[in-house]
Amino acid sequence: MSTPPHADQLGRIRHRVDQRLGELADRYCGSDPGLSDAIRGALLSGGKRLRPVLTVVTCEDLGGPAGPALDAGCAAEMVHAASLILDDLPCMDDAATRRGVPTVHRKHGEDTAILAAIALLSAAFSTLGSLRGADANTRSELTRIMADAVGTGGLVTGQFRDLRSGRSGPEQDPATVNALKTGSLISACVAMGGAIARADAARRRQLAEFAAHLGQAFQLFDDLLDQKGTALSTGKDVGKDVGKLTVMRRDGAEAAERRLSLHLDAAHATLETLFGSNCRMASAVDSVFVAIPQFARFGIRQAEA
Ligand code: IPE
Ligand code: IPE
Ligand code: MG
Ligand code: MG
Ligand code: MG
Repeated sequence: MSTPPHADQLGRIRHRVDQRLGELADRYCGSDPGLSDAIRGALLSGGKRLRPVLTVVTCEDLGGPAGPALDAGCAAEMVHAASLILDDLPCMDDAATRRGVPTVHRKHGEDTAILAAIALLSAAFSTLGSLRGADANTRSELTRIMADAVGTGGLVTGQFRDLRSGRSGPEQDPATVNALKTGSLISACVAMGGAIARADAARRRQLAEFAAHLGQAFQLFDDLLDQKGTALSTGKDVGKDVGKLTVMRRDGAEAAERRLSLHLDAAHATLETLFGSNCRMASAVDSVFVAIPQFARFGIRQAEA
């Protein structure tokens, strides 16, 4: 198969993200080796870097400045890293492996893991509040976007409902849980890119629509991998969703795949309106969905070309 479109450019963005995260880790990881190793391990252990790529590509492709978008994207990656530390704790998903290595609490202890997550969240907000190359209004808008995505309007409530979903209590709608626990941060990344680029209201609405579909598709894909993937291919524990209320567990793999396709198609249709066909963002999206052949769209396009 030939190289996917925009692969080089997206690779360069990921490289810039990794470099900048390293600099930010130096600034924010403190001087106690036991704690700083945990923070650095959580932040610099790889990962797809989808969230910062979303912020950077959204902003740049709307004609906005690259510098502040990179830092805002890195702030989102810090929030993401914190959310993964907490998600893996024994009191949550009780996971042993993340990104191919032991989870932060397995390596450094639960106490350190919780403190590392708090440090990363604080570092994220400090980064947004002092964002280089952005004026005070933009900094405060970005801070609000991120706070809303993390708090009870987003990730925190999503994780709470996810954890309670297998137990007795009101039946949860998996799409709502997915939108809150995963979609909110993805939407924040895209919204921050739009805010830094000073996109108009109509564009921001389209960006929000794109991000909402991507968030749904992303968590459905993750849920499919939990059942169909292996620890080796995903780099993390699989089979963790037993007893959880996912579309996959409730309606079966075929229904989850159908829904995923619908969300992915809708995300691409919105992107085409925003950025035209074969845009960089379409490639960034496609690069995520390669682990299950029918969703490896760039492969299909290449084959058809
Ligand atoms: C995993 O996110 C957690 C979910 C929201 C499903 P990613 O799949 O983006 O994890 P990394 O950053 O690539 O490791
Ligand atoms: C996690 O969803 C979403 C977060 C907000 C971290 P999952 O629990 O399915 O993510 P993985 O599979 O552990 O990465
Ligand atoms: Mg979880
Ligand atoms: Mg988990
Ligand atoms: Mg999962």
